[in-house]
Amino acid sequence: MRDKEIIHQAAEIIKGGGIVAFPTETVYGLGADAFNPLAVARIFEVKRRPYFDPLIVHVAYPADVKKLVKEIPSNAKKLTESFWPGPLTVVLLKNENIPDIVTAGLPTVAIRMPNHPMALSLIKESKCPIAAPSANPFGYLSPTTAEHVQEQLGDQVDLILDGGPCPVGVESTIVSFLEERPRSLRPGGVSLEEIESVIGKVEINPNELEKPSAPGMLPRHYAPRTPIVLDWDEKNLDIYKNKKIGLLAFQGPRNHLKFKSVEVLSKKGDLREAAANLFAAIRRLDALNLDLILAESIPEIGLGRAIMDRLRRASGSIEADGDRNIG
Ligand code: TXA
Ligand code: MG
Repeated sequence: MRDKEIIHQAAEIIKGGGIVAFPTETVYGLGADAFNPLAVARIFEVKRRPYFDPLIVHVAYPADVKKLVKEIPSNAKKLTESFWPGPLTVVLLKNENIPDIVTAGLPTVAIRMPNHPMALSLIKESKCPIAAPSANPFGYLSPTTAEHVQEQLGDQVDLILDGGPCPVGVESTIVSFLEERPRSLRPGGVSLEEIESVIGKVEINPNELEKPSAPGMLPRHYAPRTPIVLDWDEKNLDIYKNKKIGLLAFQGPRNHLKFKSVEVLSKKGDLREAAANLFAAIRRLDALNLDLILAESIPEIGLGRAIMDRLRRASGSIEADGDRNIG
């Protein structure tokens, strides 16, 4: 079927209260009409996501934000003008028209305009903003291909739009505008450097996020089945002998022989390429029944910050006061 027809079909499903998985530039989302609480409830059920974890509302035009929020602070406007459509989510004080289930009862709403032609067409044709989390079971890695969605949620969603692999590969950067100074709640596809070049210094949320706004940033989020270890020493690999270990390398390991399998995120050391490959590479390693995945550290500049954040969460090395056994 041609893209146009299948997007039309997807929009009809959204209008009818169904749920559709769709590509964005960051990861695949699982969407429903943001104004239809029953449809949104199905997303929580399918994902087995706790109701205290709010969803991002996706819009197709920057002007749509006005209908969803009380006010748009000037820094939020500057950021959306600079990075939309794109991997930036802004958290603003919400209007009453947004159902509580979308925002987990918070007085705020997270909004983003994705930079993907299929996502934008879907929102436009559905004629409503689309509430969508990443299209994965709660606590698992976000999908970056339609096949990832199919494997994990295939039989439970009404339609999966296939737009190929997501070019950015990590979720959007979330910036909140509730305090005097903007606060970054989640590092993501727009780097901190890029954001600060537009609005100056932003606060960075500590890893232990206060509930209930804890933005999916519970420890062990993004976790595969196989344990991931970030803190390890190349010289001390003997402690893992007799174990089947995989390596998640940044540019390429010095010694391949010790590993059962190796995934290289970017041979040339490009952080954008590494981010785009991250979740698919972890999934491939996770499918091999390894005892352990050793992950190399990535320089924490640009997109490296989002990559390391996801790796720390996948490895459980971020300790917070939340439940460590989510999934
Ligand atoms: O790139 C992305 O952001 C992808 C694509 C599909 O757009 N979406 C995504 O959604 O990553 P999700 O639900 O997996 O992560 C959204 C995060 C959640 O951790 C949630 O807690 C946080 O956004 N969030 C949503 N509304 C919020 C709010 N009002 N205040 C603070 N955090 C919020
Ligand atoms: Mg998610």
